[in-house]
Amino acid sequence: MNKFTTASFIKAKEEGHKISMLTAYDYSTAKLLEEAGVDSILVGDSLGMVMLGYEHTLQVTLEDMIHHTKAVARGVKRALVIGDMPFLSYHVSVEETIKNAGRLIQEGNAHAVKLEGGKEIIDKIEALVKAQIPVCGHLGLTPQSVNMMGGYKVQGKDEAQAKKIIEDAKLLEAAGVFAIVLECIPEKLAQLISESINVPTIGIGAGKYCDGQVLVIQDMLGMYNNLTPKFVKKYADLGSSIKEAVISYCGEIQEGVFPEKKHTFTIDDETMKKLY
Ligand code: KIV
Repeated sequence: MNKFTTASFIKAKEEGHKISMLTAYDYSTAKLLEEAGVDSILVGDSLGMVMLGYEHTLQVTLEDMIHHTKAVARGVKRALVIGDMPFLSYHVSVEETIKNAGRLIQEGNAHAVKLEGGKEIIDKIEALVKAQIPVCGHLGLTPQSVNMMGGYKVQGKDEAQAKKIIEDAKLLEAAGVFAIVLECIPEKLAQLISESINVPTIGIGAGKYCDGQVLVIQDMLGMYNNLTPKFVKKYADLGSSIKEAVISYCGEIQEGVFPEKKHTFTIDDETMKKLY
């Protein structure tokens, strides 16, 4: 079993192997994804919505991220674990950025960190790479900027926006990132970026020409229905399966069908007599 490392990302692009990435936020799910052979697991700050029930990712703290990244890392042997840096954990100063990313690596056991943005945070990305912390970039729809963007909208549809995303991708490559997530941008723009840089692009709502794909696990398993973006493909309907199982469980308790003999423990009659 060869570990999937940051070097494997670059090699995958060179060799035409499409990189598979999914989010996970807990040990059991991470272990299942690992057993299924996913290349990389992102502990996304999307956990704020799908695990903690917040409306956005903005409320997620560094402590939340460390807590969930630690759990995921325990379930993983081969895949590369990426921990998301939460809102404002990399904006104040270079020093604070390195300290916060360092905690995700040292305490959370992440192999790498992900930051949203381009030119405006390039000094932080360069400093992290210098500090030997592998960085995954994130361009296009960057959910931590939801209030600046005025909602979750496709990005890069006009010339100025598209040019900015292309320029940012090149800056991130020059700063030394090992991959760039491209979220919610037109397929042709994602194709142009993927062909213009040597680091792999990981698409989410960015079409099939990216060098890999990522989805939020709750979305692709049909476990989170508050918001279903167009780019999500549901590979299972676990939400319905879970509800059906719980309805059966509640019904069987009422009917005395569960637990059965095979689920119970025995004690000998002599001992029982002494208890009355
Ligand atoms: O937080 C997250 O899950 C992400 C993915 C949507 C790429 O950033």
